[in-house]
Amino acid sequence: MNTRKPQPGHDPRFSRRQFLEAATTGTMLAPALLLQTKGWGQSVRSTIPEEAGLRTLRATSFRGAPDGREREIWSYNGQFPGPLIRVKEGELLRVNVINDLKVPTSVHWHGMHQPGTWRMDGVDGVTGPPIAPGGEFLYEFQATPAGTHWYHSHVGVQYGDGLFGPLVVEERTPIATYDRDEVLLINDWFLEPGDTLLAQLLHGGMEKMPGEMQMKDRKDIGDVPFQSGLINGKGRAPQDTTTPLTVMQVTRGETIRLRLINASSTYALRFQIDGHPLTVIASDGQPMQPVTVDNLPICVGERYDVLLKANQGGAHWIRAATLDGNEILAVLRYADAPAAAPDVKPVQWGARALTPEQMRSREPVQLAARPREIPLLLGGSMMPYRWSMNGQFYPMADPIEISKDEVIRFVIRNPTKMDHPFHLHGHSFHVLGKPGALNLIDPVLKDTINVPSDDEVVIQWLADNPGRWFFHCHIEWHLATGMARVLEIKPFS
Ligand code: C2O
Ligand code: CU
Repeated sequence: MNTRKPQPGHDPRFSRRQFLEAATTGTMLAPALLLQTKGWGQSVRSTIPEEAGLRTLRATSFRGAPDGREREIWSYNGQFPGPLIRVKEGELLRVNVINDLKVPTSVHWHGMHQPGTWRMDGVDGVTGPPIAPGGEFLYEFQATPAGTHWYHSHVGVQYGDGLFGPLVVEERTPIATYDRDEVLLINDWFLEPGDTLLAQLLHGGMEKMPGEMQMKDRKDIGDVPFQSGLINGKGRAPQDTTTPLTVMQVTRGETIRLRLINASSTYALRFQIDGHPLTVIASDGQPMQPVTVDNLPICVGERYDVLLKANQGGAHWIRAATLDGNEILAVLRYADAPAAAPDVKPVQWGARALTPEQMRSREPVQLAARPREIPLLLGGSMMPYRWSMNGQFYPMADPIEISKDEVIRFVIRNPTKMDHPFHLHGHSFHVLGKPGALNLIDPVLKDTINVPSDDEVVIQWLADNPGRWFFHCHIEWHLATGMARVLEIKPFS
């Protein structure tokens, strides 16, 4: 039967319903499973019946005004952000992604290690071609590690147009005691589509306010001027005081595990809930020694799990601010408080801010001796607009070849005037810190790390998951203009 072969794009000869009916007769099941081993990106119509455990994400566009300004939003299932996907650690996660956009797309599962399933990682040009318009692809992989993660398109600069959502993998063994959890997914937001912003950067047409290039310490904190930001899909453009904000309802006495995700295109954010200390218990899904702070920086792609003790009353601001002070707001409201917003007053940042030195694993770590050291020098320029690693601009860059089970130490040096949030696919790494002051005792495990301007960061990891994996700066414009590498962990099939 012709449906046994992978077919590019939408096959008009069969409706999805017909496929499902054929599939449920049983005869097509084996071929369908065979298709899955052919790798992803072939835009095969799924022949696996919708049953318990199979989820659907349909990438579509709609017009919306999440910060009061209307534009086209690209999102999943008509929801923005995309629906929360919640699974148990180790469970088989099966998501059929249907592409109803007019352009190719993909879904990357940011934080998932994908043991043995690198072709399910959803990176355009690295793990396979994207899903053609009208096509579908069934992603199937084991949900590991546990923790707070997210999913997003990994084609061009698409996710900034709204193609992202939260992914929660529940621990089999609890890492803390709390009453319930809540996701706060935060992102910067622009009126113009990502492709337009990228074109402006490439043609030198991005307007910068005077002085914006040279913040204190002459650091640049974002190539695209800040416009607004959203918390769980709601926010306000500047001057707007009426567009509804996200309100998180709490009851006095409860402890809530907040799952914080920075899904921005560009901006690192400092997070605080006024008057409420936060106990940080995990980052990028990996438990860490609990630290109680007033606020914490979250770089693009990073996640933090924090415990919030609701021990007060009234209403309080939930704030996420760029490093130069542009604020994204939501409201924490106690059940017995009147519906009014908190008083508008300038932010007072609490004194205790989470520092990299405070981030330690819960148990001492046995680090492998004699890692293979790979220096990575970051570079970039505004004119022409491009960003590099070791002088090469992805995709015009050599893959880094690694043998399975090699211990890799990346020494990342950043002489540029910007911070770069780096993300590793398929693995977590130990954050050893700065050269000369390495933490070899209890370095925390993460998959996304900020490499500060004029600084160096050393990470070490075991390359135990063969395949083609991406390692890149998560600022969309940097990734799109070269700051990325493919790691080929061999042998793979
Ligand atoms: Cu959030 Cu390469 O991904
Ligand atoms: Cu960068």
